[in-house]
Amino acid sequence: MERSPVNTQTLEATAKQMVADGKGLLAIDESTGTCNKRFAKWDIPQTAESHRQYRQLIVDTPGLDEAISGAILYDETIRQKKDDGTPFAKALAALGILPGIKVDLGAKQLPAFPGEKVTEGLDGLRERLTEYARMGARFAKWRAVFAIGDGIPSLGCIGANAHALARYAGMCQEAGLVPVVEPEVLMEGNHTLDLCSDVTERVLRTVFKELYSQRVKLEGIILKPNMVLPGVDCPHQDSVAEVADATVACLLRSVPAAVAGVVFLSGGQTGELASARLNAMNVRYRLRLPWELSFSFGRAIQEPALEIWHGNPANVVPAQEALYHRAKCDRAAHQGTYDPAVEAHHRESGAHRMATELFAGSVA
Ligand code: 13P
Repeated sequence: MERSPVNTQTLEATAKQMVADGKGLLAIDESTGTCNKRFAKWDIPQTAESHRQYRQLIVDTPGLDEAISGAILYDETIRQKKDDGTPFAKALAALGILPGIKVDLGAKQLPAFPGEKVTEGLDGLRERLTEYARMGARFAKWRAVFAIGDGIPSLGCIGANAHALARYAGMCQEAGLVPVVEPEVLMEGNHTLDLCSDVTERVLRTVFKELYSQRVKLEGIILKPNMVLPGVDCPHQDSVAEVADATVACLLRSVPAAVAGVVFLSGGQTGELASARLNAMNVRYRLRLPWELSFSFGRAIQEPALEIWHGNPANVVPAQEALYHRAKCDRAAHQGTYDPAVEAHHRESGAHRMATELFAGSVA
């Protein structure tokens, strides 16, 4: 059946809304496997029901909409409901937070390319997008990963992933969903900042070439890249300002000005570092950039909250306060007004003290 032509205006308006007012995205789209791995670390039961309770804690965080414009859900979550029977996508929309959905089916070994992966999920995607749009999703996400190592990433890996990202983005726009295009150069390794910059530039240039080939409207996409960072095991760890400079320089060389917005993944950085680095980019370059530089963090927003929650209903309020704090810090970083001194203040605050006491077992 012929589809109606893409409504580019709606796509552009949605994409703009995703990065407006200093807000950014919250990634709560961990697949069942990833979510269970994170729960296992804190001895939290690994069931669909505990996933639901945790996502409810997040969606019900008071004031979440002050910093978050959109939340990325996982297939399991978009089909789940809050205790009162409201589907999560509907609850988010009622708060003015755009519901989004992760639609890739994960990164799998790329045959004949040891150590490299290709993201799968194009078959049947058109039908899945139609269903998600009916469930209220306004945007989608697809993540490709690139490891840095001996001779990798290869041209074959970059090309296969860039092509899949572009095919996904085209199908999203056809379905009226804004594609969040996520090519992630991983932090694992001992590579330098300069090497990460070279690899990130090569990946981004290839992705935009493929997006062009597939006739994707850049005004109706959001790019979700990695920051340009030294590998976690690199002996020299560059300063916040050096990371900001390298990241912005790399993006200016490889991301067309028509793109609606850029939202970074956190990729395993601590919440505080991720805020500080995003803030430095906006402080130093905000007035010279063609796109908003915002966030789409998963771990960097959630980690303190997950640790505090521990699967215990008694910890919901301090966990929500920790989540709210990180989200507010990231909104400030998008605006270039983040002050790291707020972290010490937060640590001294009631929420943090209460959480510490809960761990010490001094509160029932
Ligand atoms: P992190 O910020 O934890 O990297 O998660 C973002 C994300 O959506 C990964 O696909």
